[in-house]
Amino acid sequence: MYYPDEVIEEVRSRNDIVDVIGSYVKLQKKGSSYFGLCPFHNEKSPSFSVSRDKQMYYCFGCGAGGNVFTFLMEYENFSFVEALKFLADRAGVQLPQEEYSAEAKRRADLRTSILEVNKLAAKYFYAQLRSPQGKTAWDYLRGRQLGEDTILAFGLGYANKYSDDLYRYLKTKGYTDELLAQAGLISIDEKHGPYDKFWNRVMFPIMDANSRVIGFGGRVMGDGKPKYLNSPETPVFDKSRNLYGLHRARSSRKPYFLLCEGYMDVISLHQAGFTNAVASLGTALTPGHASLIKRYVQEVYLTYDSDEAGTKAALRAAPILREAGITARVIRMDPYKDPDEFIKNLGAEAFEERIREARNSFLFGIEMLERDYDMGSPEGKTAFLKEAARRLLTFDEEIERNNYIDAVARTYAVSSQDLKKLVTRMAVEGGLARPASRPRTSADREREKEDGHLKSQKILLTWMLEGEDIFRQIRQYISPSDFTEDLLRAVAEQLFAQYDSGDVNPARIMNQFTDEEEHRQVAALFNTKIRELSTAKEQEKALRETIIRVKEYSLEEKARHLAPTDIAGLQKLMEEKRALQAPDKLHISIN
Ligand code: CTP
Ligand code: MN
Repeated sequence: MYYPDEVIEEVRSRNDIVDVIGSYVKLQKKGSSYFGLCPFHNEKSPSFSVSRDKQMYYCFGCGAGGNVFTFLMEYENFSFVEALKFLADRAGVQLPQEEYSAEAKRRADLRTSILEVNKLAAKYFYAQLRSPQGKTAWDYLRGRQLGEDTILAFGLGYANKYSDDLYRYLKTKGYTDELLAQAGLISIDEKHGPYDKFWNRVMFPIMDANSRVIGFGGRVMGDGKPKYLNSPETPVFDKSRNLYGLHRARSSRKPYFLLCEGYMDVISLHQAGFTNAVASLGTALTPGHASLIKRYVQEVYLTYDSDEAGTKAALRAAPILREAGITARVIRMDPYKDPDEFIKNLGAEAFEERIREARNSFLFGIEMLERDYDMGSPEGKTAFLKEAARRLLTFDEEIERNNYIDAVARTYAVSSQDLKKLVTRMAVEGGLARPASRPRTSADREREKEDGHLKSQKILLTWMLEGEDIFRQIRQYISPSDFTEDLLRAVAEQLFAQYDSGDVNPARIMNQFTDEEEHRQVAALFNTKIRELSTAKEQEKALRETIIRVKEYSLEEKARHLAPTDIAGLQKLMEEKRALQAPDKLHISIN
């Protein structure tokens, strides 16, 4: 859904950044800014500042910064639209409604109703757990060492012994049988009519990242079968795209997730302080899960069960994560079955230790491979090393591949050289041969050069934000069209327009960007500290050089896109270029 700029700006301006951040971080006024402990990194003295004038925040410690939207995107891990909706709600701003087709509207309404009825069911289960008839379930959970806070935090509940009481309760609320069946809460038997799907089970509501109840898992209290019964897939419940515990893990400040197998594992880990634990709901990890994870972290520690099935699952999950650009490590759980039992027996500190000792998932895979071979015999070991070499080939990056070759060679007491040769031979055999060292291509060099120029353009934008005086001087030489990348050019255009209208408002420029990544990039532009770098003289020199670099590159680019017959155009560009080369022409003064 596309929201008009005015709407976005209205939402932003109606949410004062000091108030919003103040509800998350304790702030103290110092001069014209507010200071507090940065929520984005660990610190003991406050270097996190919030400016009411600029409506921006910035941390002098870790460089985090942006406007009120950025803050929520970073703190709550919201997407831009989620942050917008949250703040609109907070300020009572009505966002324009999406226009639906009749069919889309029907589907949206169905989803809304299912979420609503799920929430009611979760509350009902919770109330049952706390009622006298829920005593067995309560005792069961307490017996598994869950505290009251934990039970509440995960909204655990109890589906009692009657097999139609939830059904009857929800009927009093006016829901149709059809809807209840679509929500997966009841089944309809031809002979006996509707009955509850869950009864006499401890209930685990499954929530999406926004804490909406999308389904349930129910566990027998004891050894009955099946151990867990789960909601079927419904219009709101897609197992391959949701992770249990994500609604809480998303705002844990750790840069990685602990990925485990079961409900109880997640809950125990959270209770022990590992609030970054999630689980893939008893199904194999899918690329859908991986891309969901990628929205929050770049690294995952797999803490699957230590049995054969868990090991296999970890080995299958690792490449899926790697494919999504996530680094995977494997945590050893032995001698216990799963994280829940581990924590119960050895406690949080021992688990911390296992996190520190976690092994790289590739090496873990190689170690597991070893089990399939008779490592005592020369043939067995050779066959094993051949397979390892084949796997080592999957690393495209030469340095990375060599590092892994070294690691494997060390572990299995063969020479790195020999293993490297074997890898090369496997490559030839597999038709994957490529030169041992790939020379940097001209495309590589081209890319590096471009990166350098983009960096100059970014620095120049930051300079322009330093104030009217500097901006006026820069604009004598530079116009928005000198920025060669779309994002930077868009920022420049906004900034020029704002200086023209006399209302410079960086927080507002950020509104233009709704993509999270763009938002971060722009926020970074606005928070680079240039003036503290050096003396005024050095700054003048730096700025002059930046202007020249940006302008020259822009002229080069323009010349490249000029029609070969456009002689006049070319002459004009050359003239501009010559003007740049007369050093005293480009006068900058900073005070
Ligand atoms: N699971 C399931 N259906 C089953 C068994 C398991 O959906 N019949 C899923 C559940 O999400 C469960 C996870 O697989 O949490 C892991 O299963 P398991 O290791 O057997 O259970 P635990 O999570 O260890 O549960 P508990 O500690 O209560 O035995
Ligand atoms: Mn368990």
